[in-house]
Amino acid sequence: MTNREHFGSRAAVIMAMAGSAIGLGNIWRFPFIVGEYGGAAFILIYILCSFLLSLPILLSESIIGRRTHQNTFGAMNTLAPGTKWKWLGLLTMVSPIIILSYYSVVGGWSFAYLCKAVSLQFRPENAETVTGMFGTFSSSTWGPLACLTVFLGLTALIIFSGVKKGIEKFSKISIPVLFVLIVAIAVYSLTLPGSSEGVRYLVKPDFSKLTADAFSAALGQSFFSLSLGVGTMLIYSSYVNKHENLVASGAGTAFFDMLFAILAGFAVMPAVFAAGIAPTSGPGLVFETLPFIFAKMGSGGIFISSAISIIFFFTILVAALSSSISMMEVGVAYLVEEKGVTRGKATLGIFAITFCLGILCSLSFGVLSDFKLLGNTIFNFCDKLCSNFLMTLGALLFSIFVGWKMDKAAVREELTNGGSIRFNSKIFPVVYFLIKYVAPVTIGVIFISGLLA
Ligand code: PFF
Repeated sequence: MTNREHFGSRAAVIMAMAGSAIGLGNIWRFPFIVGEYGGAAFILIYILCSFLLSLPILLSESIIGRRTHQNTFGAMNTLAPGTKWKWLGLLTMVSPIIILSYYSVVGGWSFAYLCKAVSLQFRPENAETVTGMFGTFSSSTWGPLACLTVFLGLTALIIFSGVKKGIEKFSKISIPVLFVLIVAIAVYSLTLPGSSEGVRYLVKPDFSKLTADAFSAALGQSFFSLSLGVGTMLIYSSYVNKHENLVASGAGTAFFDMLFAILAGFAVMPAVFAAGIAPTSGPGLVFETLPFIFAKMGSGGIFISSAISIIFFFTILVAALSSSISMMEVGVAYLVEEKGVTRGKATLGIFAITFCLGILCSLSFGVLSDFKLLGNTIFNFCDKLCSNFLMTLGALLFSIFVGWKMDKAAVREELTNGGSIRFNSKIFPVVYFLIKYVAPVTIGVIFISGLLA
């Protein structure tokens, strides 16, 4: 694999991985579950989960990716030729395609709402109708499909441009921009009268809410947020050169992802409380509650309403794109390296598959809303299948593979760069213990209890 592309620097690696991690999950789920499960107390267990369980999984994927410099399928085949582990490679082909399909529907909505914001639709006199706008829009057929096409098209364009000119360039620009924008929204949100209630919702520690449920919510959120168990971190790490410090780039990624989620909390909840609205999560928060709040802010002038809504939906769109490209890259790398097709054709192929599934997910809010899979609409089924099942299964298998199947010396070599990173050599026994025992046992227990529940 001599002509394979590589990320140019540590900053590029962290930006790309953080780009995959920072997305809708940070903005529409994290702020809400923090408040639900005990504020600062939850943030504490979230940090623990991220560093003790999620980071070891991220490192497991990084080890496999950087060791082989191959796509997810090829990597498993190289490290465990002729074994059933190839199924893990295959699983990581399927999961990102399913996630990308429904994620792009939401990405498309963000594009639509950015257009609405630009055309000044969120103004004070519209405030009462803004909430209903979402139901009408998402259940219609052509508007959401057109936006899905735009979103997936943009994703494909970046991926087609390659690892350095596409993924690296986009991430290096978009991640700093996202941080600036979310800080700007948070500052604005915190200056609204009545916002302090929202701050209290986020930070007031309530240890009585730290139940088993809170723990599994923290882990689920942390996995989804760090894009684990589906091969995206593996494929990005396969573009990392042999001199890079995997522990440093993994920890940097987890840090920036968490920082963004916390900033998003301060951007969203103070505004929600200032408007006297009950906090929610998911599409309702982003496409109903917040546009209503932005429209009402028109007391500061239509200029303020429009500026803040444009900034907000632009932030969501860019955050979603920086995640969607990582999902598309998994399949594209597979087709290029295993099937020998050109990058252009591979991108077109993955675009076509996700677009078809995306159409079904989009229509499941409208004409297909009565079509149910195990009692769920197609969109909800895909979401539940991936976030509750496939991602956890993938994460569990990655940790088992690196902890139990791979040669310990190879794992050490990757994490310490052949012993040349002294700090990593010192902490290696702890990291290895987390990968080999702590992660699989904890994730296994949560996975099995989830199946039995
Ligand atoms: N981490 C993304 C978010 O928080 O929105 C979601 C995600 C991206 C999940 C990439 C899975 C994935 F492969």
